[in-house]
Amino acid sequence: MTLKIESMNVDLAGHAVLRDVSVALEPGQTVAVVGRNGAGKTTLLRSIMGLARLRAGRLLLDGEDIARQPAARRAASGFGYAPEDRVIVPTLTVAQNITLPCEVLRVPAGEIRQRLDGVLASVPQLQALLPRSGAALSGGQGKIVALARALMVGTRFVLLDEPFQGLAPALARQYGDSLRRLRASHPRLCVIVTESNASLLEGVQNQTLHIERGQIELASEVSK
Ligand SMILES: Nc1ncnc2c1ncn2[C@@H]1O[C@H](COP(=O)(O)OP(=O)(O)OP(=O)(O)O)[C@@H](O)[C@H]1O
Ligand SMILES: [Mg+2]
Repeated sequence: MTLKIESMNVDLAGHAVLRDVSVALEPGQTVAVVGRNGAGKTTLLRSIMGLARLRAGRLLLDGEDIARQPAARRAASGFGYAPEDRVIVPTLTVAQNITLPCEVLRVPAGEIRQRLDGVLASVPQLQALLPRSGAALSGGQGKIVALARALMVGTRFVLLDEPFQGLAPALARQYGDSLRRLRASHPRLCVIVTESNASLLEGVQNQTLHIERGQIELASEVSK
C-alpha cells in the first residue's frame, strides 16, 4: 500500500501552511520529517489523517484519492496517529486505552489480541504498563502508550508526532529500539516520524524529508 501525496496544499486560517507537498510513502519505510517549529510537521500528519482539509492536491492510496473521505475512514483504512499531546484517557487502564480505538472500529476480539501480541513483541516495555491507570503515567510512559495505541489501528501507516521530544536519553533509546524492532515484526508497515531536532531520531529512519515553511525541501536516503 503506497500513499502518494500529490501537490498537497493546506491552508489554516487563510494562510498557506503546506505548499505543493508531493511525497510517496512506501510500505516497509521509516520516514523522518524534520523541520523547525512552525514548519508544518503537525499539519502534514493531520492532513494525512484527514484532520485538516486539503485546499488542493490528492492523497492517493493505491490509486484511490482518499483526500476528501471523512477522517473516521482513515483509521479503518489502517492509519494510526500518535499526536504530540498524546491524549490518554485517565479513567481507563492502559490496556483499555490501547484497545478502545479497535473496539470502536469493531475489530474482532481475537484480532485485537493478535495485534496486541504483535505490538508487545516490538514494545515489550508496554507489558508492565497494561494494568495501570491512564492517569498514573509519566510523560515517557505516555509516549509508549500513544505509540502502542497508534500501532493497534495503524496496520499500514503509523504517524508519530515528535515522539522523541522531551524523552530522557535512556527512554529515547528504548523508543528507538522499539521502532527498529517494528521493521522486523511489521515489515509492510510505513512509519512517519516528525522531529524538529534530527539528532534525537536515534537513526531509526531510512529516509529523511526536510520540511521548511510548508514545503518539502529535499529528501535524503539512507539505505538500511
Ligand atoms: N489552527 C491554526 N490556525 C492558523 N495557523 C495555524 C494553526 N495551526 C498551525 N498554524 C500555523 O501553521 C504553521 C505550521 O504549524 P504546525 O503546527 O504544522 O508546525 P510544526 O512543524 O508541527 O511546529 P512545532 O514544531 O512547533 O510542532 C505555523 O506557522 C503555525 O503558526
Ligand atoms: Mg508540531
